[in-house]
Amino acid sequence: MRKIFIAGNWKMNNTLSETKTFIEEFKQSVKSIDNIEIGIAPSFVNLAYAKALCQDSNIKVIAQNMYFEDNGAYTGEISPLMLKDINIDYVIIGHSERRQYFGETEETVNKRIRKAFEHNIKVILCIGEKLQEREQGITNIVLEKQLKGDLKELDNNKVAEIVIAYEPVWAIGTGKSAKTEDAQNACNFIRKTLKDMFGEEIAQKVRIQYGGSVKAENSKEYMSQTDIDGALVGGASLKADSFSKLIKAV
Ligand code: PGA
Repeated sequence: MRKIFIAGNWKMNNTLSETKTFIEEFKQSVKSIDNIEIGIAPSFVNLAYAKALCQDSNIKVIAQNMYFEDNGAYTGEISPLMLKDINIDYVIIGHSERRQYFGETEETVNKRIRKAFEHNIKVILCIGEKLQEREQGITNIVLEKQLKGDLKELDNNKVAEIVIAYEPVWAIGTGKSAKTEDAQNACNFIRKTLKDMFGEEIAQKVRIQYGGSVKAENSKEYMSQTDIDGALVGGASLKADSFSKLIKAV
């Protein structure tokens, strides 16, 4: 059985004081939930603080990105050793905003995943098609290309631990969520591709989240699909109240 995993990606939102207010309230409202894995991804500057506040809670703390070298002259980058040292639970890699605005490619995503695996940091890998690609009917081609590039030559055993977030780019932050059936079909295709690449056993272990305008009104429906094992949530995860409602609706 794959445990549902709902993670909030705060992107460039929530200051230190907002992070504190969020965690104090959120911790209380989700403390009795044990059938769903729950996580938040604050900004780097608030990560260690968030991790300390979430100690002794059921809230995982996630980094939004990570560089593929351990240290060196890479101004502005964050090392896996820094994430390890504060016991970060997961790192998000290859979010479409990183690919779109910050030049991430399948090659650099692959390097980051390799590095995270080397340090035993768990990965949430984001993939998804753009609107034009969906309209052209090439969604599956795009997903397959991303999976093959991002997960190229990785250790099979480690791949079983990966979480994949299927996030159609046109559904992110737009309020236009994907139809449940389309999201399920894409997640099913992702699982089939993983099977071709790594075998049935691993494909059945990997958790696949849906991301793109998930909210309290639609979270249950997505989570009830066979191949959807969680959600990566942007806007609706910024406030403790709306994020806990979304989780409790499942
Ligand atoms: P959204 O973002 O929920 O605001 O659409 C999702 C994401 O980018 O992970």
